[in-house]
Amino acid sequence: MKFTQKVLVAGLSLLTINSFAQDLNGNHEHNYIVTGKDLFTSTQSLHSEMQLDVIKVEKDLVIAKTKRMEERAEISHLAHEEHKRCGGYFAFQTKEEALKFVKESQENMKGQQDYSSLVADYTLNQEDLVRDTISKAQESSIRGVIEKMSSFHNRYYKSETGVQSQQWLKDHWTSLTAHRNDISVEFFNHSGFPQPSVIATIKGKSDDIIVIGGHADSIAGWWGRTNAHAPGADDNASGTATVTEVLKVLAQSGYQPEKTIKFMAYAAEEVGLLGSKDIAQTHKREGKSVVGVMQLDMTNFNNSNDDITIITDYTNEAQNNFLGSLIDTYLPELTWGRDTCGYACSDHASWTAQGFPASTPFETRKREMNGRIHTSRDTLDYMGGTADHALKFAKLALSFVIELDR
Ligand code: BES
Ligand code: ZN
Repeated sequence: MKFTQKVLVAGLSLLTINSFAQDLNGNHEHNYIVTGKDLFTSTQSLHSEMQLDVIKVEKDLVIAKTKRMEERAEISHLAHEEHKRCGGYFAFQTKEEALKFVKESQENMKGQQDYSSLVADYTLNQEDLVRDTISKAQESSIRGVIEKMSSFHNRYYKSETGVQSQQWLKDHWTSLTAHRNDISVEFFNHSGFPQPSVIATIKGKSDDIIVIGGHADSIAGWWGRTNAHAPGADDNASGTATVTEVLKVLAQSGYQPEKTIKFMAYAAEEVGLLGSKDIAQTHKREGKSVVGVMQLDMTNFNNSNDDITIITDYTNEAQNNFLGSLIDTYLPELTWGRDTCGYACSDHASWTAQGFPASTPFETRKREMNGRIHTSRDTLDYMGGTADHALKFAKLALSFVIELDR
C-alpha cells in the first residue's frame, strides 16, 4: 500500500506528493486526519487497498490525507482488527489545520502536568456539602434520559435525527434549569455539519471554568451511514444522561458556584472528535481559564471487577489522582483502577491537546468493554435495563465539581 511503503521507505521526513487542492465536492469534508504511527507499521496493512497520502510524521503522530470517507472507516477497521484498539483519529478540513493542530498539541502538552497543579486545588474540604449533594442523584432520571436518547433512529452528526436529538436535549436541560436565571442553555454550532453541540452554563463569581461533558452523537458500522440504526445507549447516551443528572442535581439543590460550571453534550465525536475539538480550540483561542474537565463517555455497562476505571493516557495525572481520592473519600463502597485506551479515544483528548487538564472515568477495563457499541444492539436492555452503574459516575462527577469549585 502506497502510504505504508512511503512511511517505511522514506522514514520520518516529508512524504507527500499529491496535490492538496480543495475538495471538488464542496470543501466541508474533513479529509485530513491525524492518527497514531502504530497503525502504519503492520505487515497486514500492506495488503489494504487504501489510497492514503501521508503528509508528515511527527514523533508518534501521522498526518495524512484521505480521499474518501470509506478510508476513514478503513482506518477504524485496521485499528480494531490488527491493533486491538478502536480507530482514534482527529479529522480536519485542511492540511494547514491538521499541521497546526499537531504543532499546538505538542507545545501544549509540554507544560501540561505542571499546569493543572498551578490552577487547581485538589485538597478535599467540602465533606458535608458533597455528601448531601451526591445523595440527591437518582438512577431513574438517568435511565429516563438514556431511554429517550436511544429512541432516536440515530444521533449521527449528519442526519436529521442527530439534530433533533440535540434539540430535545437542549429543551430538556432548559426545563430542568428554568427556575434559575444564572443558568443558560445554548447550542454551539459547528461549520461543516448540521449537528450542534449543547452547552449549559452555571455562571459563577469567577471566570475559571469547570467542564463536565460527554458526546451526544451515535454511529453504527464503520461507514456510519446517515440512515443506520444507532441507538448508542451506552455509547454515549449513558454519559450524556450522567452529565444531565449532575446538571439537574446542582440546579435543583440551589448550588451557586464560585467558578463557572459548564455542561457539554458534544456533537460529532464518533467521526474524529469534531465537536469537542472545535469547542476546546475556541476556549484556548479566547484565553479561557479551564481548570478541570471530566469526560463521561460510556458509564453504564458494568462488566469489570472495579466499578470505575480511570483512563491514564491523553489525560492529566494529577487530576486523575484527585479522582481516585474522591472515590476513596466519598464512594468508599466502590473500587477503582487504572487502564489505558491506547489512543485518543474520546473528547478528553481534545482538551488535553489544548493544554487543559482532563480525566475520563470509564465503565470497565478496556478489554472488558461493551462489545455492542457502534451497532444497532447497543441498548439499555443489554446493560441490564437500569442505570445503576451510571449513577456511580454521576456521584463522582458531583463530588468533582464541588471540591474543585471550592
Ligand atoms: N466511546 C468510544 C471510545 C471508547 C471505546 C473508549 C471503548 C473506551 C473503550 C468513542 O465514542 C469512540 O468510539 N471513539 C472512536 C475514536 C474517535 C476518535 C472516532 C473509537 O474508539 O474508535
Ligand atoms: Zn463510539
